[in-house]
Amino acid sequence: MYRTHTCGELRMEHVGKEVTLAGWVQRSRKMGAMTFIDLRDRYGITQLVFNEDTDAELCAQANKLGREFVIQVVGTVNERYSKNKNIPTGDIEIIVSQLKVLNASEIPPFTIEDNTDGGDDIRMKYRYLDLRRNAVRKNLELRHKMCIEVRNYLSNLGFLEVETPMLIGSTPEGARDFVVPSRMNPGQFYALPQSPQTLKQLLMVSGFDRYFQIVKCFRDEDLRADRQPEFTQIDCEMSFVTQEDIIQTFEGMAKHLFKVLRGVEFDGPFLRLPWAEAMRRFGSDKPDMRFGMEFVELDDILKTGAFPVFDNAAYIGGICAPGCAVYTRKQLDQLTDFVKRPQIGAKGLVYARVQDDGTVKSSVDKFYGQEVLQQLKEKMEAKPGDLILILSGDDAMKTRKQLCELRLEMGERLGLRDKNKFALLWVTEFPMFEWSEEEGRLMAMHHPFTHPMDEDIALLDSDPAAVRADAYDMVCNGVEVGGGSIRIHDPELQEKMFEILGFTPEKAQEQFGFLMNAFKYGAPPHGGLAYGLDRWVSLFAGLDSIRDCIAFPKNNSGRDVMLDAPAALDQSQLDELSLKLDLKA
Ligand code: AMO
Repeated sequence: MYRTHTCGELRMEHVGKEVTLAGWVQRSRKMGAMTFIDLRDRYGITQLVFNEDTDAELCAQANKLGREFVIQVVGTVNERYSKNKNIPTGDIEIIVSQLKVLNASEIPPFTIEDNTDGGDDIRMKYRYLDLRRNAVRKNLELRHKMCIEVRNYLSNLGFLEVETPMLIGSTPEGARDFVVPSRMNPGQFYALPQSPQTLKQLLMVSGFDRYFQIVKCFRDEDLRADRQPEFTQIDCEMSFVTQEDIIQTFEGMAKHLFKVLRGVEFDGPFLRLPWAEAMRRFGSDKPDMRFGMEFVELDDILKTGAFPVFDNAAYIGGICAPGCAVYTRKQLDQLTDFVKRPQIGAKGLVYARVQDDGTVKSSVDKFYGQEVLQQLKEKMEAKPGDLILILSGDDAMKTRKQLCELRLEMGERLGLRDKNKFALLWVTEFPMFEWSEEEGRLMAMHHPFTHPMDEDIALLDSDPAAVRADAYDMVCNGVEVGGGSIRIHDPELQEKMFEILGFTPEKAQEQFGFLMNAFKYGAPPHGGLAYGLDRWVSLFAGLDSIRDCIAFPKNNSGRDVMLDAPAALDQSQLDELSLKLDLKA
């Protein structure tokens, strides 16, 4: 037997017992005649003791052990003289009588400690060592627990987990596909699913009624902290449901996960915010509701004919940062630089400090007298000590998005984005379409299978841009953690949708004929949603990036630096796949 107990298991009640443990040498300390070794495995750390005076040979052997050696020891559990309250096994130690090296280790490239000295790149290259660290391991444990909870919760509600294929045709979801060449079908390619969207809809046509799958999805898009090229969805679909049924079901699941995995309970239903209102009040379709600082429109007050920048703006909006009137010139310059960064793109920032005596001092004092500035203060509901920050622009939507970035930055600076606080909401009534500059046509905001809101169907011909979708996203702390919609199940409406999206009937038939044909054979009304598993785990674990809850993630360039992938193929493999490369320099 390699071990009788794990390194996290022994307590006072085991004192006097002979045990066998196996694990990794975390650290070793020599103090006089004594050598102490911290032995680590997935479950914890146990202190081993070797005494030169009792067994000099064994102690000499122990002194030769390096970090990360894999060893097995036999010994007796002993009550510790100086107890370590920081670890669960801290009351005991093992007086070792036998030691066997199961495997030696080279000196690891970074320390396997909670506060490691290893930078991001080196930890990714040696991810198998990084995964020995508590922090990363705990995230994977949480991920496992979440999957179990999700499976149990949904199974209890009658959902069936069905696997769908990974080698499929293209599913348009707004991102690019990862493609796989087919050896047996030269010149043809599979696409990896961006989501199992069409397949789960087909399962509804098959009568499965309640489907779910914890499933890998692949999207070739630019990466961010909350985006990986391959990620996992908790993908769900239901038949004979309305938006309300879906929201109830999955809000229930979200509350259950919060309760069992985070000990957080919510009073009442989650807030629901129509998209247009979210954009107006927060400049975002995923507003962070942990704090206020709502936008106030200031056109009526600041368009006085005195300041051309404001007079000519399509939108002027402000936020009020409490207690920030003390900001120095340097801090205000930093904020100005922040909004002018190319990623944000504002032209400048106007500020107004409300002073202790109630008067307002602003960066545009020469254009506005105290009377206007007082109206500004009133409208912003600003108090002495507050700082009003104002952005304007000739594109209202763009300016709102810039103000949103500023709001988030101020929330961050003021410590209002507490990772232990959770603010959830549903964003509803999304526009059905958005204009794509790149493509020069209307695109589906969610995907082409989304049902319009019933009351807007009549607008499809006359004013498609005004049509709202029967779609909803769940947002937590400014992150979109899930999204879904009621789907079109009527082949005629689906055809019309493709037409509005600029598909010729032939093209629509070629790409989606399988779905439209299926709809001719008795498709039930259906709808669903997909949660982003990685985003849920990282929210629960308070992580800055979803990478930290994925065992083997990709870096920001989409590379797996450990496996060195992607990589070139041998000529023989290319030949077999009938592929010829024409790499542009
Ligand atoms: P959507 O594209 O909104 O919807 O995706 C659903 C959820 O998946 C997560 N997500 C991601 N997580 C990590 N990295 C990514 N690159 C990434 N992209 C998306 C998000 C998002 O809310 N088929 C539809 C769902 C449906 O309509 O039922 C879909 O895929 O948390």
